[in-house]
Amino acid sequence: MLVSGDVLAFALKSGTQVALRRARADDAHDLIEIQRQVVEENVANVDDHIDTVEDCRGRIASTDPGDLWMVAEANGHVVGTLRLMSPGPSFLKHIRNLFIDIHEDWRGQGLGTALISAGTEWATANGVEMLALSVLDSNPRAHQLYQRLRFTVTGQTPSLVKRPNGTYSDDTQMILQLCRDTSMREVEKRKDEPS
Ligand SMILES: CC(C)(COP(=O)(O)OP(=O)(O)OC[C@H]1O[C@@H](n2cnc3c(N)ncnc32)[C@H](O)[C@@H]1OP(=O)(O)O)[C@@H](O)C(=O)NCCC(=O)NCCS
Repeated sequence: MLVSGDVLAFALKSGTQVALRRARADDAHDLIEIQRQVVEENVANVDDHIDTVEDCRGRIASTDPGDLWMVAEANGHVVGTLRLMSPGPSFLKHIRNLFIDIHEDWRGQGLGTALISAGTEWATANGVEMLALSVLDSNPRAHQLYQRLRFTVTGQTPSLVKRPNGTYSDDTQMILQLCRDTSMREVEKRKDEPS
C-alpha cells in the first residue's frame, strides 16, 4: 500500500474529499506553509527553521524507500503531512519516528486520525514493529489524538524544550507497538540465564 502512485480517498464529515498519497516535489510550497504555521504557533516540538522550496524538494526526493512521507490533499492543496522516519542506527531499524502536522484551517475534522491510521497500516504491512513520537505537554490536541489511537507513554522529560523567550515545556515520549518478534526476545532471555 502507498507505493508510489497509490492514493487512498475518503470524505471528511463536511463531505470534502481528501486524498492520502506520498509527497511529491510539487507539494513543497504547501508543505512550507504548514511548517511556517506550526513554527509560529509554538505548540509543537519543532525546530524554528523553515525550509526553502529547494530544501523541501530535496528532503522529499531523498526520503528513504523504507520511510513514509505521506500528505493529505484537499481542493488541490496539501492540508496535512505525516512522516514515518527511521531513527538511523541499524539497531533501531524496526522503529519509525512519527511526525504529523495539519494546516490550521483543517484541524479537528479527523485528518490527523486518518493520516496516522493510514501510516500505521503502511508500517504494519512493511514490517515496522513500533512507532515512536514525542509531544509537548502544552499540546493537548496532539495528546488527545495519540491517546485515542492507543499510543502509550514511555517517558516524560520536564523542561526538555526551552524557547528563545526563556519559557520551558515538558515533553512526553510515546510509542505504538505494532508487532513484536517474541521468539527473538525469548532467545535473548535464555542467553542471560545462568547455564
Ligand atoms: C495535533 C494535530 C496533528 C491533530 O490533527 P487533527 O486533524 O486536528 O486531529 P483529529 O481531528 O483527528 O483529532 C483531534 C483531536 O483533538 C481533540 N481536540 C481538539 N482541540 C483540543 C484541545 N484544545 N484540547 C484537547 N483536545 C482537543 C479533538 O476533539 C480530537 O479528539 P477526539 O476526536 O477524540 O474528540 C493538529 O492539531 C496539528 O497539526 N497541530 C499542530 C502541529 C502539531 O502539534 N503536531 C504534532 C506535534 S507532536
